Order: sequence, then structure tokens, then C-alpha cells
Amino acid sequence: MCGIVGYIGYEQATPLLLQGLEKLEYRGYDSAGVAVYDGSRLEVVKAKGRLQVLSDLLDGGKKLTGTVGIGHTRWATHGRPSDINSHPQVSDSGKFAVVHNGIIENYMQLKEHLIRRGVKFVSETDTEVVAQLFEYYYKGDMVETLIKVISKVEGSYALGVISQEHPDQLLAVRKDSPLIVGLGKGENYIASDIPAILSKTRDIYRLEDKEIAVLTTGGVTVYNTDYEIVQKTPFHVDWDISAAEKGGYEHFMAKEIMEQPKAVRDTISPRIRNGEIVLDDIKLTRQQIQDISKIFIVACGSAYHVGVVAKYVLEKLTRKPVEVDLASEFRYRSPILDDNTLVVVISQSGETADTLAALREAKKLGARVLSIVNVVGSSIASDSDDVLYTWAGPEIAVATTKAYSTQLCVVYLIALYMARQLGTLSDEAYANYVDELQQLPDKIEQVLQNKAGIQYFASQYFNCHDIFFIGRNYDYAMSLEGSLKLKEISYIHSEAYAAGELKHGPISLIEEGTLVVALATQDQLFDKMVSNIKEVKARGAVVLGVTTEKHKEIEQVADYEFYIPNASDIMLPSLAVVPLQLFSYYIASMKGCDIDKPRNLAKSVTVE
Ligand code: AGP
Repeated sequence: MCGIVGYIGYEQATPLLLQGLEKLEYRGYDSAGVAVYDGSRLEVVKAKGRLQVLSDLLDGGKKLTGTVGIGHTRWATHGRPSDINSHPQVSDSGKFAVVHNGIIENYMQLKEHLIRRGVKFVSETDTEVVAQLFEYYYKGDMVETLIKVISKVEGSYALGVISQEHPDQLLAVRKDSPLIVGLGKGENYIASDIPAILSKTRDIYRLEDKEIAVLTTGGVTVYNTDYEIVQKTPFHVDWDISAAEKGGYEHFMAKEIMEQPKAVRDTISPRIRNGEIVLDDIKLTRQQIQDISKIFIVACGSAYHVGVVAKYVLEKLTRKPVEVDLASEFRYRSPILDDNTLVVVISQSGETADTLAALREAKKLGARVLSIVNVVGSSIASDSDDVLYTWAGPEIAVATTKAYSTQLCVVYLIALYMARQLGTLSDEAYANYVDELQQLPDKIEQVLQNKAGIQYFASQYFNCHDIFFIGRNYDYAMSLEGSLKLKEISYIHSEAYAAGELKHGPISLIEEGTLVVALATQDQLFDKMVSNIKEVKARGAVVLGVTTEKHKEIEQVADYEFYIPNASDIMLPSLAVVPLQLFSYYIASMKGCDIDKPRNLAKSVTVE
């Protein structure tokens, strides 16, 4: 969602702000703006549309001089995308400028209160309330004012504030929305995500909820809401900026698809020693595992689809009952949990608002939370009892690929680890699975080498209007992911159905030429899938069958085939997802879509 960058130092702020915002473009936005103190007053320039529009207005940054400033890319929530609604939002007098990620839930009451006292509002945003409140409460001390302001606002926020009253300070605070402080020499930064400032510094503070950072050229001081100093330990970022750059690929999504063998290897290898899965990173004891009465898996979007696979895997290997839930549903449905419930939370960003709220709800109800997260130190990771990181590296494309694949691997690791503790797997079966797990990176590589087949298929169908994805059990979970991937980046309507459900309704939509992607990777369900393929073929569908190398008989029923290497049932999703990712990617590319930044979407969904 929205992006924040702030700078205080000795260089011209505007070009730095624009560079930082460019690195946050992947998060999704519809307008952008900057505010800079030019030596006498705050200058604000904002524009609807791409960052390039703003950059052109500012002549690449040259037109706005000054060494302290804040910048923002906005993903509209309150008020349509427009110049006025863009951030920074300023107070009535223009003396205070604010950038904000999140939602101020009680902004209407606050706005009415201020209007009754004569404050004039110009935008439709919730953020303007923060700027106006700041001016309303300001009595000379910026920190005191910010403490007062955050005591009044409800909701989620990451805020950057500058003022012409104190141009020697840049203030930052967050609650339920990520914000980091970058530490330099004679210059300091704020940002909503690391790539924005990684070319400038690798030493950062992750702010906790309601910690207030005061940045000056001389350093950074962090306070709590009692105005007491909080001692912070910097975190050193050890990944390289090149990991967050395209490296010769046309799109981040293509690069991230191709990085999957490495990402999967990095996630698995350190956790297998002498044929045993070792999860040093979690504190869950054998007794606690034995005592688990039920497992809930909670996530959103693709991470939820990993959860659907996880349900099958965990139930099969551990014989514990598993429920999988969308975080946005779970948090409001009064789930029945107790201290023998394990809630597994899955999130790439570690900041998804619904997932974070579901996690907190689960903890409130007494459950133990184990999270699978990609972004180190993110809110979900910090709030969990145990965290298993996916070592996928930074994922920039809005459509997740390598994070999804590494999440699946962590699911296999957890299921096998728990099964070992519970004694629900024979030594031989365990050893075979561990061996298979180690072969996954090479098998994914083999699938990627056959990408031309998928590219050809995409070239035949990139103009179609509807696509159906069908499968059973694990393949149903893959259908959900294939369909979502296609929708989000190609804007083609698609549906995912459990193949056995077709005849209960959706088969009425199949007509001459309808494209159906049929996933038939599971041995024990292959014949059932052949019947489902015949059913749709009989109604005129064109079928791409995705199956394993051993099932060449698919050629007798499908129009096109794509083979993935043979593997054990639980690990086939890791291979089957790759052609689906490639298919969406090639279709979107042939349609000329904005693949890495699809319309209306954001990488990290930090609002409800
Ligand atoms: C996937 O391609 C999506 N962009 C989206 O569904 C995503 O998986 C979802 O928003 C969850 O994000 P998270 O993993 O960062 O929590």
C-alpha cells in the first residue's frame, strides 16, 4: 500500500525522496507527493498518477531545494485519487506537513470537532485530520504535540511529520503499520520499507507501536508516550540492493519466478542436518506438540492458498485436525480456541492488517501462534510465539511467487517435524520425505527449463475472456492459486473449482472454446480427473492438462499437456504451481499489462 520516505541531513532532500519513493512503487499507489523545508517555509508538491508525473513537475527534484523533507506514494482509501487528496497533507497555516500510511478510524469525529473550532479542511482524507490536530495542539514542542495527537487518533498509522517551526527535526511514529528509521552519518531517514533507503544505509531501527523517533542531523532519539527515552538496538540489513532490483529481467515477477530454486534451497537446507529436520528457531516442545488438540491456519490471498495445501499435508502427516481460515473471516467469527490450539499464521510481508489482527485475536483467546513470515522483524513475526522465516529474499512484484513457494516448503518442514515428534510417520517414510524435500530445488529448476511450452500455450490463449482451473485435493489448492495469479496480473476473469463440484453448477458456464486448466498431478485421483476432463471436453472446452511425467495418458483426453517431474503427493504443489505462475506471467506480458504493479492492488495490505 502507501509508501513513506523521509530525510534530514546535508544533501538536497527532494531527489533522495523521489529515489526512495521509486523503490516503493511496487507497493501499489495512485498519487505521490513531497514536502520540503526550503529555508523559510514548507513547500509541498503533489500529483495524481505515476511518480514520473511528480518527478517531471519537480524537474527530477532540482526545483525544490532544502535538506529536510517527507515523501509519499498514496493508495487511496479515504477520498479518490487526486492532487488534493495526495500526501503530504498540511495544516491550515501550512506550517505542519504529514505523510501517513494506514487508516484513522475516528477521523470523522475529530474532523467535526476541529471544524467546530474554525479549522478549515481542504481534502477528503483521514490524514488531513492528523496535520490539523498537530497544529491545534502545538505549543512549541514537537514530541509533546505528537504524543497528544496519537492519544486522540484511533486506527493504524505510520506517520512522518515535519514543521517549519522546527525544521531541524523530522518526527516519525507508527501503530499497526510498518515504519523504519535509517541511521546515517550527519543524515537520517525514515521509510515504510527497507528498499527505499537501502542504497543509503543498512543500519535501521524498527519502531515498535507508538515509539516516537526524532531525527536530526546529529542523530536519532526514540521516546515512548511518557516522553522517556527508549534505548534501541540497530538492526543490520545483510541483503544486497541487487536483490531488490530487476537484474536484467523485464519484470520483478519473472526474476522472482526464476529465483525459486535458490529461494527454496535457502529455506530448506539450513533446516536439514544429517537427514533430520532441525527447527532451532522455534521453542515448541515435543510435549506441546503432543498436546495440540487442533491446528488453525490463518492467512490472506496466496498465503491462504498455502494454508489450503497445509491443511492436507498436516492432517496427512500428523493426524491432527486442521482448519484453514481467511484472516478477515477468522478475526470476526469467534473461533473456538484454547491453550492447546496452535494457530499457524502465514504472511510474506508480515504486515497484512487482517492477518495481524487475527493473530492478536488468537493470542487473546489463549492459542499459541507459530508464524511463517518472509520479512524479518515484521509485526507478525514480532507478535508470534514462534517464527519460521522463509528465506526468499525481498519480493517486489505484487503477485507473489517465490514467497509462496518457500511458504510451502516451511509447511512441509513443520509437518514432518511434528510427525517425527508425534511418531505418526515410519522412519522410512520420514527419510523418503526428507530426501524428496532436498530434491525440490532441482525439480523446480527442471520445470522452469520447460517454460517455452507454457509460453506457447499462453500465446494461443492470451485473448480469452474466461479461464477455469480445476483439480482435486492438493490440485484444488493449486487451482485456487493459479486462478488468483491470473486474475491479479492479467485481469482475465477466472474461476477455481474443486473438479468434483463442476457438475453442481459451474459446468453450465462451459461452452465451445472455454479454456480449462485441469490439474491432475495426484496418482490416486488421476482417473477421477480424467473423467472431469471428459465432462468439460464433451461441452466444448479446450483443456490444458498439468500432470506428472508418469501420466502420459493425459494426451488421450487433453488438448495440451504440461508435465512436471514425479514426486510424492504432498510435494507436487511445489512443482505444479510453477507452470501456473508462468502461464499468468506470459498471458499478462502478451496483453501488455503492468505486471509488477497491477491495477488496484498493493504488495502489502496494511489496511483492513
Ligand atoms: C498474491 O499474489 C497477492 N498479491 C496477495 O493475495 C497476498 O498473498 C496477500 O495479500 C497476503 O499477503 P502477505 O503474504 O504479505 O500477508
